[in-house]
Amino acid sequence: QKIEWTLEMAEKSGYPHFMLKEIYEQPRAIKDAIHGNIDAVKRAAEEIARYEKIFIIAMGTSYHAGLVGRYLFQRLAKRVPIVEDASEFRYEFEDLIDEDTLVIAITQSGETADTLAAMKLAKKRGAKVLAIVNVVGSMATRVADMTLYTHAGPEIGVAATKTYTTQLTVLTMLAIELARVLGTADEAYLSSLEDGLQRVPDLVESVLKHDAALRELAESLADRRDFFYIGRGINVPTALEGALKLKEISYIHAEGLSAGELKHGPLALLEEGVPVVAVAPSGKTFDKMVGNVEESRARGAFIIGLGDREELRRVSSAFIEMPGIDELLTPIVYIIPLQLIAYHLAVLRGNDPDKPRNLAKSVTVE
Ligand code: G6P
Repeated sequence: QKIEWTLEMAEKSGYPHFMLKEIYEQPRAIKDAIHGNIDAVKRAAEEIARYEKIFIIAMGTSYHAGLVGRYLFQRLAKRVPIVEDASEFRYEFEDLIDEDTLVIAITQSGETADTLAAMKLAKKRGAKVLAIVNVVGSMATRVADMTLYTHAGPEIGVAATKTYTTQLTVLTMLAIELARVLGTADEAYLSSLEDGLQRVPDLVESVLKHDAALRELAESLADRRDFFYIGRGINVPTALEGALKLKEISYIHAEGLSAGELKHGPLALLEEGVPVVAVAPSGKTFDKMVGNVEESRARGAFIIGLGDREELRRVSSAFIEMPGIDELLTPIVYIIPLQLIAYHLAVLRGNDPDKPRNLAKSVTVE
């Protein structure tokens, strides 16, 4: 029997889709992001330390990385950046930008129209612009005063995966260095976080082993029409990003929100069998999360719990066991099963996850 190989099949190195290949490349990509940025983040942190007024601007998945960045900056460096989607920033914040402003732009492609326009506007007003970019030599790197690369390698799937986890890696390193420069956190804690980050690639590898179980879970949920994703603190953005992945490629309606917001409306939508994905690692709000899960369960929701505690397993309809790790590092690891659930649901529903309808890899028009 003759097996026909196309160029595209070869590029996917045996994976049925680029997205799955890119999900599996994450341990390597995160390692490269760490090693490629050790010196660069030191220089960038020295610069950032000079600014009290910091904006983080981005779109889509990069915007969610920016939201995680805010939690990292505020927890470690006691600086609270304003995170705005670039399409809002460029029209709403113009008057607030001056020479005392630092703008951190996050963009995988470096070509997103709104992000580029916001960066140019910031520069025109005298702000300093730092870009976090994947594509080497892209327009954003030419506009920015300084660039940090995510080193994820080319990402072909429209839904961002490895570029997201590498953006989070760079932001984590940046926040740690900034805390060091500003003296806002204990050195022992900062170096334990660095050690934790070094272990993240192996932890991601271990979470990828849930793939077959996640595919089975997806099979049992393929006909659902709405999904809810809840989290607290640094994992509110994880909930948003998990929901975005599902919408983008499976075309199932999904909402991501802070668990505390459930009671303020979305709870009215919960009924028998509606999936609620709870991103619930150990941490200061774990007990609150369990309470929110119980509330949802009482309305008949099907709870998919992601966590490292028995108490969560007990209240979950399906439990995805996650490795124990410092809460600040959980966004990088906890998004992996959510990427896989979205991928399998897309494939089960007959969609091409690499080329979702109506969407483009980079949006170069406003
Ligand atoms: C598009 C892509 C998303 C991406 C967003 C921002 O919508 O489909 O995956 O997150 O653009 O792209 P950027 O290249 O600026 O990170």
